[in-house]
This record gives sequence, structure tokens and C-alpha cells, in this order.
Amino acid sequence: MKKSSIVVLAITAACIWVGCTYKKEVTETTTPTPPTVTCDTTNVRYSVEVVAILSANCYKCHAAPASAGGGIVLNNYNNLKTWATSGTLYNDINQSPGSNPMPKGGAKLASCDIAKIRTWIRNGAPNN
Ligand code: HEC
Repeated sequence: MKKSSIVVLAITAACIWVGCTYKKEVTETTTPTPPTVTCDTTNVRYSVEVVAILSANCYKCHAAPASAGGGIVLNNYNNLKTWATSGTLYNDINQSPGSNPMPKGGAKLASCDIAKIRTWIRNGAPNN
């Protein structure tokens, strides 16, 4: 065997060996921390949380003149309070049996949003 062939052989062998033992860089396995599902109902205010939920889900039909919402105006505190204290507001968004499920034709509100409105109603539906 020629000297050059031995060199080629040695290089080839070295490459194979390196190829076999080359370890892939260990990418740090980040265990995804599950998102902590928290629903903070400790401080639910009409002007902030309640209005935010209603404006995102209800005002398109229920903002004055509320022509798409049967004329029922909910972007008005006094009107909303009437529906809240009668229990209708909660039953409708909770889609309780016998209610008129709201948002009409749309997906039920997120349970946290329902919980916030329930808390606000239980607190006496204050204008805070
Ligand atoms: C696509 C339009 C639409 C959306 C969105 C909608 N509503 Fe209504 N809502 C209506 C209509 C129309 C009525 C009148 C009664 C009927 O036709 O069912 C109504 C009636 C109501 C009433 C009167 C009481 C009753 O049971 O009929 C309340 C309270 C109410 N909606 C609350 C809400 C709330 C809260 C949301 C948001 C979470 C919402 N609605 C979203 C269309 C809508």
C-alpha cells in the first residue's frame, strides 16, 4: 500500500470516527411552565373591567341606540344596573336554562369574564 493511500485511509477513518462520536450540542430542554390560570375578581370595577368585557362582547348590539340589540342599551350604567339587579344579566351571560343566551349568536364569554361580572353584581353592581 502506498504511503498516500494510508494517509487517505487514516483521514477517512478519522472522519468516520469523528462523525460517529460527534455529539449534537445539547440544547437546553426548557420545560414549559404551564400558564397559571388566575382569575382575579378581587377588584372588579364598573368603569374598568365590566365596561371592557361588555364593550368587547356586547356593545356592537347594545350601545345606544342598540338597534341590533332589541333597543336594549347596555352602555349606560343605570340601564345595565337594572338588568344586573334583576338577575337577567347574569343568567343571560351564564346561559342559564330559561335565559336568553348572550352574546346572541356568539360564543359564550370566557368563564373568568362571567366570574367578574358575577362578582360585580354580587357587590351590588356599584358605579365604581
Ligand atoms: C348580535 C347582537 C347581540 C349581541 C352581541 C348581544 N346581544 Fe343581548 N340582545 C340582543 C337582542 C336582539 C336582544 C333582544 C331580545 C332578543 O331578540 O332576543 C338582546 C337582549 C338582551 C338583554 C335583555 C334581556 C333578555 O334576556 O332578552 C340583555 C340583558 C342582553 N341582551 C345582554 C347582553 C350581553 C351582556 C351581551 C354581551 C355579553 C349581549 N347581550 C350581546 C342582541 C345581542
